[in-house]
Amino acid sequence: MSTLIKSATLLTASDTFSADILIEGEKIAALGADLNIPGAEVIDASGKLVMPGGVDPHTHFDLPMFGTVSSDDHYTGHKAAAFGGTTTVIDFISQDYPTLRASADAWHAKADPKAAVDFGFHMNITRLDDSILEEMGHLPGMGITSLKVFTAYNNRLRLSDGDIYKVMRIARERGLLTLLHAENGDVIDLLVAEALAAGHTTPEWHAKTRPAWGAVEATLRGAALAAQTGAPLYIVHMNVGGEVDQLRYVRERGLPVMGETCPQYLFFTEDHLRRPDGAKWVCSPPMRTAADNLRLWEGLKDQTIQTIGTDHCPFFFDGTKAILYEGKSVAIPGKELGSDNFTKIPNGLPGVGDRLPVLWTYGVRAGRITPNQFVALMCTNPAKIFGLYPRKGALLPGSDADIVIWDPEQRLTYGVAHAHHRTDYNLYENWELVGFPEKVFLRGQLIVDNTRSEGDRWLGKTGMGRFLMRSEGTFV
Ligand code: URP
Ligand code: ZN
Ligand code: ZN
Repeated sequence: MSTLIKSATLLTASDTFSADILIEGEKIAALGADLNIPGAEVIDASGKLVMPGGVDPHTHFDLPMFGTVSSDDHYTGHKAAAFGGTTTVIDFISQDYPTLRASADAWHAKADPKAAVDFGFHMNITRLDDSILEEMGHLPGMGITSLKVFTAYNNRLRLSDGDIYKVMRIARERGLLTLLHAENGDVIDLLVAEALAAGHTTPEWHAKTRPAWGAVEATLRGAALAAQTGAPLYIVHMNVGGEVDQLRYVRERGLPVMGETCPQYLFFTEDHLRRPDGAKWVCSPPMRTAADNLRLWEGLKDQTIQTIGTDHCPFFFDGTKAILYEGKSVAIPGKELGSDNFTKIPNGLPGVGDRLPVLWTYGVRAGRITPNQFVALMCTNPAKIFGLYPRKGALLPGSDADIVIWDPEQRLTYGVAHAHHRTDYNLYENWELVGFPEKVFLRGQLIVDNTRSEGDRWLGKTGMGRFLMRSEGTFV
C-alpha cells in the first residue's frame, strides 16, 4: 500500500524545503518534487508542515512508586504521546529483580502487549555488584544501550561515586550511554529530616529541601567521573541554570557530555509549589526560578542542551475521584497521598502529549528556538543519541514512516479536556496553544487524525507499538 503526501513543507533538524513524500508499507520510499504514483492514496499537505514523529527519550509508564503507580500505562501513555505528535518513547526499567534480564523481562511483560507507539528501554542501575557489572555487557544484546544512575535517593536508588565510576568504566567498554540524575542525596536527606522536625509539610518544602547547588555540583561530579573513565554522559531533566553552565564548561573542553531539559523546567517556578494545588508541580528535580527558566532557554538556543524529554510520570491530583477514560471510570491514588506531608506526594508530572504543541507555541512561535532546532531537540537528536537514527527522527528514504503533518495555525485553549493523558489535570490548563499535529503516522499507518472537521480521532491500537532494539548512539 502506497501513500503520497503532496505539496508538503518538510522540516528537518537542518533544513526546510518543499517535497512530496512517498510511503511504501512501513517506510519512507522517496522524497521528491511532483511525485506521481498511480494507485497511491494522496494526502494534500499544502499549507502544512511535515516533520518526523517526535522521540521522547524520558518516560515512566506504569511505574510503581510512593505506594501507588504512575497513572498512564504503556497504552494510555503511548496514545497521549501520539496525539501530541510523538511516535517513539524510551521508558526506564526499574532494577526490581536480581538480574537485569529479569528486570527487563518484567518491563516487556507490561509494555509489549499494550504498546501503541514504538518504544525502547533504558536500564536503571540502582544496585551494583560484580554480577550486575558483568551483566551490563549483555544489555546491548537486549536492545538496551543506555542506563541511568542516581546521585540522590539514598538507600533506594543512589549509587556511590565509586560505583558510578565502575558503571561508567563498563559503559565505555560496552558502548553504553550513562544517564545521570544529578542531585545531592546526602544534603536532601538532612534537609528533609530538619524540615519535617520543624513541622514544614507543604509542597514548597519539596524544592526547599533539594538545593539547586546540589544539582550543579552533581552535574560536574558526574562529568568529572565520565572524564576519568572516558565514558559519554547524558544529564537528564536539567532544571538549574548552573547545570547549563557546567555542561557548557565540559563540552567546551571536548568531553562527550550531553544534556536534556523538560518543558516544565522552562515555564514553571517554585512559586507554583506555593499554590493551593502546588502538589501538581511536585517532581524531582523540582521547579526552580525564572532565572533558571531563562538560562535553560539560552542553553537550548545556543545548543548547549541537546534534547527536550518530558520525564512523563503522571499521578492524579485527587485520586479519590474517578475520571472517565475510554468510557470507563478510573481512579488511581495520586498527589492526595501527600496532603499532610510533602515527602509522601508522588513525584512526577504529566507531559508526554504536551511536549510538541507547548514547545511549538512558546518556543518556535515565541522566537526562542527555530523550527529546525525544534525538530533537532524533539526528534532527531534523541534518535541519534539513543541509537535509533536514521530509522527514527528522520525524513529520509529508508526511515520508518513515522510522520507528523503539523498544522501551524490550529489554535486551542488547551488543558486536561484536550490532552489525552490518563490523569485529572494538566499543567498547561487554559494556555493558548497554536500548532498541533493534524495527522500522525506510525510506520506508515495513520494513528491520529485531527482534521478540524472530524475532530480528534484515534486510529491506533493496543499492541501495535514495537520494541526497538537500539544500537550504540552517537554524540551530538
Ligand atoms: O519526579 C519525577 N521525575 N519522577 C520520576 C523519577 C526521575 O528521577 O526521573
Ligand atoms: Zn531522575
Ligand atoms: Zn525520570
